[in-house]
Amino acid sequence: MKILVTGGTGYIGSHTVVELQTQGHDVVILDNLSNSDMKVLDRLEAITGVRAVFYNADIRDKKTLDDIFEKEDIDAVIHFAGLKAVGESVQKPLMYYENNIGGTINLLNSMSEHGCKNIIFSSSATVYGTPAFVPITEECPKGTCTNPYGWTKSMIEQILTDTCFADKEWNVVLLRYFNPIGAHESGTIGENPNGIPNNLMPYVTQVAVGRLKELGIFGDDYDTPDGTGVRDYIHVVDLADGHVKALKKLEPGSGLSIYNLGTGQGYSVLDIVRNFEEATGVKIPYVIKERRAGDIAECYADSSKAFRELGWKAKKGIKEMCADSWRWQKNNPNGYAD
Ligand code: NAD
Ligand code: UFG
Repeated sequence: MKILVTGGTGYIGSHTVVELQTQGHDVVILDNLSNSDMKVLDRLEAITGVRAVFYNADIRDKKTLDDIFEKEDIDAVIHFAGLKAVGESVQKPLMYYENNIGGTINLLNSMSEHGCKNIIFSSSATVYGTPAFVPITEECPKGTCTNPYGWTKSMIEQILTDTCFADKEWNVVLLRYFNPIGAHESGTIGENPNGIPNNLMPYVTQVAVGRLKELGIFGDDYDTPDGTGVRDYIHVVDLADGHVKALKKLEPGSGLSIYNLGTGQGYSVLDIVRNFEEATGVKIPYVIKERRAGDIAECYADSSKAFRELGWKAKKGIKEMCADSWRWQKNNPNGYAD
């Protein structure tokens, strides 16, 4: 298939391009480089031996989207493009709604006008809010999000659901990611956050490489085995493979499909520190801090639906995730900036 990957130079997008190309798909990447780097294209070519067609373009620019759909004969879109910094979304909600929701509506209009009605969307476990139960199945009711970023995911899910209902030619897959970490085994592509990382693993790797002094652990008084927050960390390469497997749910008549992509295994913050130290031999100094506003105690997936319907299952364990995150950070202490 010929796949348009929006946000394809970003963290999850770039890993998905590798899986798509190695599994025989044609890839066209669209990204405005607001949170990624052109160098990713060279790194991808070095891994797969194929240079992806690249458009430096913004999903809010309808005219350019139309030009791309006219020029390229796209079968399906995998839609990663979006802003994702939770704290920034609280400060700048309109920027998030405009970019993520406005951009997606533009994209859907352009797709529809050019007869491409197949899309896989990057959603998030954040749509469950404080989950009604764990492990979380797709039947778990959606909850109240704690920030505008989360609401953009929840609202885009609704927009796609309504679009699918109104026009039976649409096939939509909503993939709800749990916590992606890790990097391609080559250590040449990986997560490259701007400024001080918000998320746990990039914070840990930046402490390990000496860019940050120590990890702050946000709370040790949760109702979890060791008191620190429990999450379902998933290797980004497994996540990427989930997208390739999900392409089969874009066959005519498939309609709307929703899948959790996680491992089903929860790890606490202290588990991550311990596993990272064991996998890499690097010590991570930490201090216990106050709870972070909006955090929940535990969140992990029941991903058995993805196994039953897509034949997808996460394969890589926590040690491999830690080792691969570290290889990327160690080889690229300043991300793509070197
Ligand atoms: P990322 O920031 O590395 O990738 C997103 C890419 O989209 C970037 O390359 C950025 O330049 C591009 N982009 C942003 N706005 C754009 C626009 N208007 N037009 C064109 N390109 C634009 O983030 P990621 O971690 O790879 O996440 C990819 C997707 O998955 C996002 O939609 C994110 O919300 C979602 N997601 C991520 C996580 C996570 O923990 N990383 C969890 C759940 C869902
Ligand atoms: N944590 C720390 N210290 C840090 C960073 C995180 O103790 O410096 C803790 C958090 O309190 C939490 C755990 O590590 O218990 C994981 O935190 P992350 O910020 O890495 O991940 P979250 O589960 O909070 O959120 C992430 C993304 C969201 C996404 C969600 C589900 O940031 O966008 O996963 O996919 F919605």
